[in-house]
Amino acid sequence: MPDAVELIKEIKNLKRSKNAIILGHNYMEYGVQLVSDFTGDSYDLAVKAMKTNADIIVFAGVYFMAEQAAALNPDKKVLSPDPNAGCSLSDSLDVDTLRKYKEMYPNAPVVLYINTSIYTKALADYIVTSSTAIKVVKSLDADAIIFGPDANLANYVERKTGKKLIKVPPNGRCIVHANYTRQLVELARKKYPNAILMAHPESPLEILEASDFVGSTNQMIKFAKESPYKEFIVATELGMINALKLQVPEKTFYPLVTTEACACARCPYMAMITLEKIKRSLEEEIYEVKVPKDIAERAKEAFERTMRLLN
Ligand code: 13P
Ligand code: SF4
Repeated sequence: MPDAVELIKEIKNLKRSKNAIILGHNYMEYGVQLVSDFTGDSYDLAVKAMKTNADIIVFAGVYFMAEQAAALNPDKKVLSPDPNAGCSLSDSLDVDTLRKYKEMYPNAPVVLYINTSIYTKALADYIVTSSTAIKVVKSLDADAIIFGPDANLANYVERKTGKKLIKVPPNGRCIVHANYTRQLVELARKKYPNAILMAHPESPLEILEASDFVGSTNQMIKFAKESPYKEFIVATELGMINALKLQVPEKTFYPLVTTEACACARCPYMAMITLEKIKRSLEEEIYEVKVPKDIAERAKEAFERTMRLLN
C-alpha cells in the first residue's frame, strides 16, 4: 500500500487532471487536511461549494455535508469518498417526524441544524450551523420555533436568545460531544492549569457554561489565533487538534478526551474518510451524490433564505 506522501502526490495529480477540488472538514485526519483545497466548518464549506469553478467536488466530510454541496451545485459532480459516513444527529431526525411537528405547530418556523439529511432540509425554513444558529433564532419574530435535531445546541441557543424552542426530536445528540462531563473538565483544568477551555456547542450545557469560549470549529481556530493565551483545552472531536496544529502552529492544544481515555473521542463517521478512499473516489469518480431536483431546490431555498438573513 502506498504511504501517505505518495497518496497525497497521486491525489494532487488527479485533482489537476480532472479539475477537481477537495473540501475537507476540520475533523479530518492530518493527511486529508493537507490534501484539501479548503478546510473549514460546515457553514464555510457549504459556501465554498457554491463558489468553486471546479468540475468535481470531493467532499472529505460526512455524508450530509456532501449532500448539501450536491444540492447547492446541481451542475457539478459531487463525490463522497464513503457514503456510509453518517452522523448520529442527522440519523436522529426523519421526514415523517418533522412533518408531524409541522402539523402540530403550523405557524412555527422550522430551523434545522445543518447536520440533517437533505430530505428533512427540504422541509425547513432556515438551515443553521453552530456558528449561525443564535443569530438566526434571535432574528425570528415568532413565539414558537421548531428546532432540530441537536438538543444541546438548542439548549445553548435558548440560553443565549431567551427564546423557547420546540425540539425535534426531544433528545437528539452527537455521539462524540454527548460524552463530555464536568468531571472531565475538572480533570483537564487540573492537568493543564495554564490552558483555557474552548467547547463546541454540541456539548452539554454544563460544559458550555464551564467553558471560556464556545464556537464552531472555524470560530475556535479564529479565537485561538487571536487570543493572547498560548494553551487551550479543546472540547470537540479529536480531529480538530489537526486543524488547530496546522493553522495555529505557534500554540498548544490538548483534547478534552483522548482515544486512550475513550474511543468516543473520535467520530467514527469522520474517521471513515481516508486518503485511500479519496484517491479511489477521484480515480473512479465514485460515489456520486445525487439529490432529486425538487428536494435540492427546496433545500437550497432554505439555505439561501438563511444567508440573506445573515448578510
Ligand atoms: P462545525 O460546523 O462546527 O464544523 O461542526 C460540524 C460537526 O459535525 C460538529 O460535530
Ligand atoms: Fe455527527 Fe457528531 Fe460526528 Fe459531527 S462529530 S459528524 S455531529 S456524529
